[in-house]
Formats: sequence, structure tokens, C-alpha cells
Amino acid sequence: MRRVTDVTKYAIAIALIGTAILPVSVCASSDVDLAEAKQCFRCHSIEADRTLRSPSFQSIARKYGGQDATGAQRAKLSQTIRKGTPEKGGYHWGRMAMPSPDLRPVISDAEAARLTHWILNLR
Ligand code: HEC
Repeated sequence: MRRVTDVTKYAIAIALIGTAILPVSVCASSDVDLAEAKQCFRCHSIEADRTLRSPSFQSIARKYGGQDATGAQRAKLSQTIRKGTPEKGGYHWGRMAMPSPDLRPVISDAEAARLTHWILNLR
């Protein structure tokens, strides 16, 4: 019986710690959830570049200077996230284009802007 009580206390303590940490991490993890839901990880990873396939989100962040990216660059990245890259070969990363939206989940302007912001902060 005593054991159970201790376990319960322990569980409550963990739950409380979890709640305390949550506000800090909630933003980042829900951005990951959004990327997951929009199937970004089918091709991209956060850290590892997949040669000839897709740049990692960290490489994209580095290329555009992370948080120093200009408004025009952000707009273009958001556009790419929504519409894909225009043709095979894409802009510069590899041999593959990022597919158009009819092959992927629909992404709103606001979601694309949020993903762009998240990616640029990964640097
Ligand atoms: C089917 C594979 C695939 C999926 C799914 C995919 N991408 Fe891409 N993405 C690519 C490829 C390939 C490129 C590089 C194209 C090129 O060479 O320009 C790319 C390029 C990009 C770029 C632009 C890089 C630049 O320099 O302009 C961004 C930003 C990006 N992807 C974000 C995303 C996000 C966010 C998602 C999810 C909503 C996503 N991608 C889903 C394959 C994919």
C-alpha cells in the first residue's frame, strides 16, 4: 500500500515538473507536429542532408542566415513550402524538385509562414 502511495506521489511530481517545463517547449514541439502533419519529414530531416534528395532544415536555415533572413527570403521560402519548387532540379539543392501542393497536404499562408519561421530558427 505504502509503495503505491509513493509511486503516486512520484507520478504527481513528474506531472508537475512536466507542466512547468511545457510552456517553454510547447512552441517548438507543436511546430514539429505541424511539419509532421504536413509530411515534410517524408523528404526533409531536421539535421541530416539527404544527398540528391532534400536539404535538411538546418542547412536551409544556414543558407538564408537563420533569423537574419530578409522579408523577401522569408516570403520566397513560404511560397516554396506552399507551392513546391518550380521544376526538376529546383533552385540549387539537388536533383529533385519539391513537389507541388496537389501531391502534399494543403498548407495555408499562416502555416507556411510558421514553418518558415521555425526552420530559420533551427540554425
Ligand atoms: C517529396 C519530397 C518533399 C516534401 C514532402 C517536402 N519537401 Fe521541401 N524540398 C524538397 C526538395 C527536393 C527541395 C529542394 C528543391 C531544390 O533543389 O530547390 C525542397 C526545398 C524546400 C525548401 C526551400 C529551400 C530553398 O533554398 O529555397 C523549403 C523551405 C522546404 N523544402 C520546406 C519544406 C516543408 C516545410 C515541407 C512540409 C510542408 C516540405 N518542404 C515538404 C522535397 C520535399
